[in-house]
Amino acid sequence: MSDEPVKFLLTERDIPTHWINLLPDLPGEPLPPLNPATKEPAGPGDLTPIFPMGLIQQEVSPEPEVEIPEEVREVYKLWRPTPLYRARRFERALDTPARIYYKYEGISPAGSHKPNTAVAQAYENAKAGLRKLCTETGAGQWGSALAFACQQFGLECEVFMVGSSYDQKPYRRSMMETWGASVHRSPSDVTEAGRSQASHPTGSLGIAISEAVEIAAQDEGTNYSLGSVLNHVLLHQTVIGQEAIAQLEQAGDEPDVVIGCVGGGSNFAGIAYPFVRRVLRDGARTRFLAAEPAACPTLTRGVYRYDFGDTVGMTPLMPMFTLGHDFVPPPVHAGGLRYHGDAPSLCGLVKAGLVEARAYKQNETFEAAVRFARTEGIIPAPEPAHAIKAVMDEAQAAKDAGDQRVILFGLCGHGNFDLAAYDAYLSGTLEDPEFSEADMEEALGRLPDVPVPV
Ligand SMILES: Cc1ncc(COP(=O)(O)O)c(C=O)c1O
Repeated sequence: MSDEPVKFLLTERDIPTHWINLLPDLPGEPLPPLNPATKEPAGPGDLTPIFPMGLIQQEVSPEPEVEIPEEVREVYKLWRPTPLYRARRFERALDTPARIYYKYEGISPAGSHKPNTAVAQAYENAKAGLRKLCTETGAGQWGSALAFACQQFGLECEVFMVGSSYDQKPYRRSMMETWGASVHRSPSDVTEAGRSQASHPTGSLGIAISEAVEIAAQDEGTNYSLGSVLNHVLLHQTVIGQEAIAQLEQAGDEPDVVIGCVGGGSNFAGIAYPFVRRVLRDGARTRFLAAEPAACPTLTRGVYRYDFGDTVGMTPLMPMFTLGHDFVPPPVHAGGLRYHGDAPSLCGLVKAGLVEARAYKQNETFEAAVRFARTEGIIPAPEPAHAIKAVMDEAQAAKDAGDQRVILFGLCGHGNFDLAAYDAYLSGTLEDPEFSEADMEEALGRLPDVPVPV
């Protein structure tokens, strides 16, 4: 056996004690979210009907670090710290001089990075005396994570699952029900928002969010919980990047480029923001690459405007790249990436040129994922398959340039419940739906009429 290490491991004592809040380090004044009715800046009061004060404080915190409650770290111990791998077999298969590392979040109970925030959110809601959490889920990963987290803190959980994912991934529903959650196919007929969107049977994250927010807003004992986009969700994910910094130190390497897939921005922020802070504070020269689907190309083709976070227009307006809040993306298998907008902080970084975004078609991402599975063993979720495609492009660029660049990417989840998608790819029936300019024009015409931020 060679001495070449493949895994870089930390102990439970190394679980971070704080989350990293990048917002105070970002240049310029952040643009505020706006109240959906008045279009005036939204304050904490606008969020109290659906979020507990503990999370609202995190959402608007000016502190560069936020302490992680002991109760949350205790639950994190079930799977954290997660391993960092050096992808030696993948490197050899690609015949690249690049050194490729991946941080694997698929060892969590739900199989992705989502429990990092689900546990923190369930804890704050239980502490505030709530009885139930209601949410949406795209790929099924977020719903599973919240169902698990609610069990840890004695909360009920109700999930609206995007129709196309509900049909593609029946065992994700079984998983949520095993953890005690109740699950609806969205659009459903149990909410006004769902009934109004019955003509979009494949559903979308925007529609499912509207359904969950409606339920939460109507019941005092129920809060809403969001798996991405908001500041506090991105904050909770920064345990990933902090651990990766310590593990790369063990490996004696520094990343030249950090890569992640983007649906709403939380796993990308989780792995990248601790490194982005080093760029902003210490002038580190790391590059950042965000990978998204060509079928839902928010960062690469969206417009930078204020838009709603949901389809029906109940959430605050956020400044972000958007494809229009009622854009219903084609039902690609990367269900977690079918979102019309992205986290405002990430959109700001893309706009400022600190993060580069690239869009990939479905088949090329599965080709990359299969290549990875056949070398490293782990079958990736369709979402991080986009990151793997970007890694392959970087590895090829390193080979062309003859440089030994160090690539770090987020393998944010496994694809063990996504095998119908792999079946479609392997049998040659997987489609490459294209984003239609006509859809975009139509959706943009319905954007809320608020001044475009300068
Ligand atoms: C495995 C996986 N990766 C990525 C995402 C996209 O979300 P985010 O951009 O917030 O990480 C999801 C969302 O459901 C997911 O399940």
